[in-house]
Amino acid sequence: MKEFAINLKRMRKEKQMTQKQLAQALGISPQAVSKWERGECETEMDMTARIAGIFNVDVNFLLGYSNDHGTHYEEKYRRKGFYWGYKVNDLAYEVLKLMPPTRPLRLLDIGCGEGQAAVFFARNGYQVSAFDIAETGIQKGRKLAEAAGVHVDFLCADMLSHELEGTYDIIYSTDVLEYVPQEDRERVLLQLKEHTETDGINVLDVFVEKPFIETAPDWEHGKEHYWKTGELFSHYHDWKIELLMEPVFDCMSAGIYHRHCMDKMIARKMG
Ligand SMILES: C[S@@+](CC[C@H](N)C(=O)[O-])C[C@H]1O[C@@H](n2cnc3c(N)ncnc32)[C@H](O)[C@@H]1O
Repeated sequence: MKEFAINLKRMRKEKQMTQKQLAQALGISPQAVSKWERGECETEMDMTARIAGIFNVDVNFLLGYSNDHGTHYEEKYRRKGFYWGYKVNDLAYEVLKLMPPTRPLRLLDIGCGEGQAAVFFARNGYQVSAFDIAETGIQKGRKLAEAAGVHVDFLCADMLSHELEGTYDIIYSTDVLEYVPQEDRERVLLQLKEHTETDGINVLDVFVEKPFIETAPDWEHGKEHYWKTGELFSHYHDWKIELLMEPVFDCMSAGIYHRHCMDKMIARKMG
């Protein structure tokens, strides 16, 4: 109960919510939230699950049974080797084509995992910052950068609450935005747009739901959220779309053949 009280208060503050706002979202009194945070009374299981949903974390994490802050990646990154291998996403090569580092360019990789793409960009001459919610991924990224003899400004942070500082020429985030629930998308993407330099680009992809494609066997319901076709693009209606595609592709994650559909986009902020 003590861990629940501590986690609840910390996550509420991280999300910059008042006790009253959290109480409103749950349809209860602010006094009840205050009592939980003081450890004076317990929540029912379904209420705990609703709170976990609001903060986009696992119930076990909220109750203090696990250090996994919302995703299962901590455990995967703790294993030997690189979970995602060394190959970077095709979109990384599009960045090289569209914005080669012929002048100093600042690039931010959001949800960088174990840092392969961040190190790839640093090796290619970009000034790279990168963050991920998984601390074990960040530690591996730091080691990878050191081994490659490049500098990457790595940080452990949650994209749902982290406030960006300064501006970037390129904001890059692949296979990550499925962790942004529908209600947070406008706010999260607005922040990316605001922190992009004029003539800079945002390089993003999202899994989209299709009636003819079954949900992946390792999809984490409640944590991963599908997008609708075109939804990502519509947030960038006021930018120049440099690349737009919706491939359907095979995947063997979890050792079971399945397919995915993704919307991939590169958009440029015009002056
Ligand atoms: C499927 S992996 C993709 C990693 C990397 N971008 C790539 O393309 O190989 C998703 C990553 O998003 C990170 N992630 C999930 N939720 C996050 C959040 N709220 N803030 C920051 N990173 C998050 C996970 O820890 C994980 O490393």
